[in-house]
Amino acid sequence: MCGIIGIASNKLVASNIIQSLKKLEYRGYDSAGIATIVNGEINEKKCAGRVENLEKMLFKNPSNGSLGIGHVRWATHGIPSKVNAHPHSSDEVSVVHNGIIENSNELKKDLEKKGYKFKSQTDTEVITNLLTDFLKDFDLVDAINKTLKTLNGSFALGIIFKKFNNIVVGARRGSPLAVGYGPEENYLGSDSYALKSMTNKITYLDDGDVCVLTNNKIDFYNSKNKKINKEILILSDDKNIAEKGEYKDFMSKEINEQNVTAKTCIKEYLDQLRKNINIYNFPINPKDIQKIVLIGCGTAYHSCITAKYWFEELTNIPIEIDIASEFRYRKIKLNKKNLYVFVSQSGETADTFAALDLCKKNKVKTCSIVNVVESSIARSSDFVLPIHAGPEIGVASTKAFIGQMLVLYILAIKISEVRKEISQSDYEKKINDLKKLPDLIKKTLNYCQDNTPIIAKDFLKAKGAMFLGRGLSFPIALEGALKLKELSYLHAEGYPAGEMKHGPLALIEEGLPVVILAPKDRYFEKTISNMQEVIARGGKVILITNESNNIISENIRFTLEIPKIDDYLTPFLMTVPLQLLAYNVASLKNCDIDKPRNLAKSVTVE
Ligand code: AGP
Repeated sequence: MCGIIGIASNKLVASNIIQSLKKLEYRGYDSAGIATIVNGEINEKKCAGRVENLEKMLFKNPSNGSLGIGHVRWATHGIPSKVNAHPHSSDEVSVVHNGIIENSNELKKDLEKKGYKFKSQTDTEVITNLLTDFLKDFDLVDAINKTLKTLNGSFALGIIFKKFNNIVVGARRGSPLAVGYGPEENYLGSDSYALKSMTNKITYLDDGDVCVLTNNKIDFYNSKNKKINKEILILSDDKNIAEKGEYKDFMSKEINEQNVTAKTCIKEYLDQLRKNINIYNFPINPKDIQKIVLIGCGTAYHSCITAKYWFEELTNIPIEIDIASEFRYRKIKLNKKNLYVFVSQSGETADTFAALDLCKKNKVKTCSIVNVVESSIARSSDFVLPIHAGPEIGVASTKAFIGQMLVLYILAIKISEVRKEISQSDYEKKINDLKKLPDLIKKTLNYCQDNTPIIAKDFLKAKGAMFLGRGLSFPIALEGALKLKELSYLHAEGYPAGEMKHGPLALIEEGLPVVILAPKDRYFEKTISNMQEVIARGGKVILITNESNNIISENIRFTLEIPKIDDYLTPFLMTVPLQLLAYNVASLKNCDIDKPRNLAKSVTVE
């Protein structure tokens, strides 16, 4: 991913552009650049390495101008270098880009035949010369439209013009782009992180949209070049977002906003127009990956276990998972052909950061899946995939778990597609199923609100509890047990249902609550048999399924029937009742919901 910023102002813009680029370095930082309009000319400065190198250049040789664009790069086409850094400028236009232009080679050949020279190896420079060429024969709007229609692939663009030197143009297809409204200036950015230090009034572009910014207005046009109005969102700043609102505590807010955070996350990664997942810029070509290692702690580790099943089903890549505090001390054989993925909500967990550091010291490729993009883990990774869940304040992780699983699932589908290990129709079906997920999470939340408080009563006098599942439900059983433990201080164990007969069945006694996760997947019958074994020994079964017909239910204490969904997506819906169950048991026991005893939100020590 790369980071884009643009500002149209009535005052000098260079320092604001630099400050915003620093916020965007999680998207890539192998090179950086800025272009402003100074005395009617395009003034471009760029460098290899971090934004601070660009800042040092500007200290020595300031970029004046009240209109400009900036960029931090994660190399896709062309090595990380000054010449390949963005912006890419001609005498007439300057362009910054996030995305991949799939037909750049043929366009480059056509432009070279017309006499255009190329300085860089990037696909972005093709956009620069193509737009310059169209501007010779067409007015601004037509030239922009013809350029965009000629491009195949995905882009978020920021463009400035010598002749139209009071506007910044933005265009989105498949890569996120937003605008911000300021006092006598307006902003363009890859996401709200880049803009929130300058404004809290944001509009997100949709695929196909074009925006034209001056210092006192922003106009929007859709893919049919029709002027449109777009909603202005008021971004509450972190402390506002971290307000409970009408909720009793942060955890209930964070559980109940999971359909919204899931929708936001999916929107960030799905190119709606082209039905594509817009993750590229992998630090290692997915076709060359020999193994993927998923590493995390606690709930984040559970998301890794879930992802192991998805990667195994969707790709031919061997997958390993590890708890960060173990990984960091193993005599592990690190391999440059492997991709090491670190999952962390806070991005500051000491064990996870130490495991990442071990990989960096051994120069292997790393990716982090985080909720805090300015975090240490994000800034130290070769590649960052945010989960876009918004600040999570409750110590017990809920919406972040859904976000972590979402990004891991989307990553597995994308890697499978790049390696051609999934058919195009299956790829599109999975994308369509994903789009239904937020509404089904909402439906599950509504369904569980009333019955989990009743079920919770069964746990009040219990000596402990068991959570059992097979396949994709096994890590969810672990997560359900962890939620109950950390919120209500009741001992609980998650276990593979098939493992019970190898010892833990001895724990089953009259009245012990046992939560059985049995969606109608290929493990269903076997899990139901395990459930019968538990009932035969007096266990009090709470069955969570999406197919309760023809299950003998007289000895089942409670059955929760969640909505049907593609097997791959059942972990998301299975998680919701377990979160609410733990929440209600803890509430009945008057535990501190948001700050359970002995715990911390981010474990920044070993
Ligand atoms: C989850 O409910 C816990 N609070 C804990 O297990 C947490 O998931 C773990 O400490 C990892 O935190 P991180 O995601 O911020 O790295």
